[in-house]
Amino acid sequence: MLEVKELHKNFGEVEVLKGIDFSLKKGEIVSIVGPSGSGKSTFLRCLNYLEEPTKGSITIDGLMQEAGNHKNRDIVAFRQKTSMVFQNYNLFKNKTALENITEALIIVKKIDKKSAEKKGREIIKKIGLEGKENFYPKELSGGQQQRIGIGRAMALENKLILLDEPTSALDPELVGEVLDLIRLLVSEHISMIIVTHEMKFAREVSDRVIFMEDGIIVDQGTPDEILVSPKNKRIEMFLGKI
Ligand SMILES: Nc1ncnc2c1ncn2[C@@H]1O[C@H](COP(=O)(O)OP(=O)(O)O)[C@@H](O)[C@H]1O
Ligand SMILES: [Mg+2]
Repeated sequence: MLEVKELHKNFGEVEVLKGIDFSLKKGEIVSIVGPSGSGKSTFLRCLNYLEEPTKGSITIDGLMQEAGNHKNRDIVAFRQKTSMVFQNYNLFKNKTALENITEALIIVKKIDKKSAEKKGREIIKKIGLEGKENFYPKELSGGQQQRIGIGRAMALENKLILLDEPTSALDPELVGEVLDLIRLLVSEHISMIIVTHEMKFAREVSDRVIFMEDGIIVDQGTPDEILVSPKNKRIEMFLGKI
């Protein structure tokens, strides 16, 4: 469903992704772990074309983007293959919970306002925020805001959801409710790539775990192979630190 070949990303002189080969099957849940600065966010952002890769290709659901060889129109369609969930939620501050979910349905998916609202209300229920439809982000807890961030991604029904440290901005007591919502997505077999430092959670939900460091995939395998008895010394050290 997703195939990444030789993906490179430079910021100026600095090479942040140094040749990533990666593939993902439909319904697969992959967690990416690794030290800060290793390029995990940049990788997800390239998959969503929030960053343009310097070299390499990405194919999602039959649609390919090759670095440096595209038309703008293709990028719009390509972006609609994936949805991002951001560490800091990235909600519209001047829009309500419901509007945050319906906005992209109306603007990007061109769904009429009434149907978008109906869908939005269903999602609000699913993410456990019934009654909070008209609340603004600042009136909601971090956990509630992130549930809206995830609800927005769910509503789009794109092929793949990319979650970039979805719980790392949250107070510890709010982490659980967000993980529970992600568990719900897992139970619905939605394809996901999750960058996380929640090792227990990664072990529980992932089909595969990837360890990234310094712009490359150092190792990958089952959660137990990577997180419980890693063969790689670097991974062992990393796990020891957290
Ligand atoms: N827009 C940018 N411009 C320049 N450097 C960047 C930019 N985004 C990320 N970087 C650099 O790329 C490296 C990897 O960052 P990032 O992908 O955020 O890592 P991670 O998510 O694993 O912590 C870091 O050294 C970071 O400073
Ligand atoms: Mg990051």
